[in-house]
Amino acid sequence: MHIVLFGPPGAGKGTQGDRLAEAFGIIHIAMGDLLRKAVTDQTSLGLKAKASMDAGKFVPDDVVIGMIEERITAPAAANGFILDGFPRNVVQAEALNAMLHEHDLDLDCVVFLDVSENLLVERLSGRLLCRACGFGFHRHYSPPREEGRCDRCGGELYQRDDDREDVIVQRLHVYQEQTAPLLDYYSHQPFFRTVSADIGVDEVYKRLVLAIKDAG
Ligand code: AP5
Repeated sequence: MHIVLFGPPGAGKGTQGDRLAEAFGIIHIAMGDLLRKAVTDQTSLGLKAKASMDAGKFVPDDVVIGMIEERITAPAAANGFILDGFPRNVVQAEALNAMLHEHDLDLDCVVFLDVSENLLVERLSGRLLCRACGFGFHRHYSPPREEGRCDRCGGELYQRDDDREDVIVQRLHVYQEQTAPLLDYYSHQPFFRTVSADIGVDEVYKRLVLAIKDAG
């Protein structure tokens, strides 16, 4: 099964991508996580990507396209994958089509997570992540039991550098300019679905499962 999950920053792609991957027995390929790992590991790619990410801008297409091709053709992706954060513009969508074609693969579903802008800012500015295991919390919607500590592993919680309010505004602007056109790009495809995601995590998840089964 090959799924693309797309939507604005804070729509819930990461949260739902993890759950869906577990439910469908496929891997979750989150572009932002791959880039943040490269930054933490201080690879040459990570060092190049950091400035763009901290400013809320996109990392160059050739960098992310190369990283994705490696992942979707790896043995770990043999049962399928769910892509989160890729493609993020029409150039990347065309590159994905070409890669899939070359490896004799098809997309089963492209889902757009639709969330109103005021909620996005609230979700992003309240997000907390565990430095050790990466698990996500939210200050109001899903707070940790002990302030600053991960419920799962006791690791330290932190706020992403790009979740400051000025950077969030820039990310939403870049989304409107570059990613929103993907709606036109995919909307005529029979496997395209929109899921309203202004509601709680469990309800969004149920809607996504229905949408994916319906498209497949
Ligand atoms: P990336 O990490 O992909 O960031 P993003 O797309 O901005 O998405 P987020 O991770 O911020 O949000 P999300 O939709 O995953 O929401 P989440 O589930 O965490 O990319 C970061 C940067 O990397 C980019 O800005 C760019 O620089 C670079 N990059 C990445 N991909 C690239 C590409 N293809 N090309 C070029 N550059 C690229 O949820 C957010 C919060 O809300 C959490 O706290 C969560 O608990 C909470 N929440 C989620 N769902 C709900 C709900 N239903 N109700 C209540 N709370 C909820």
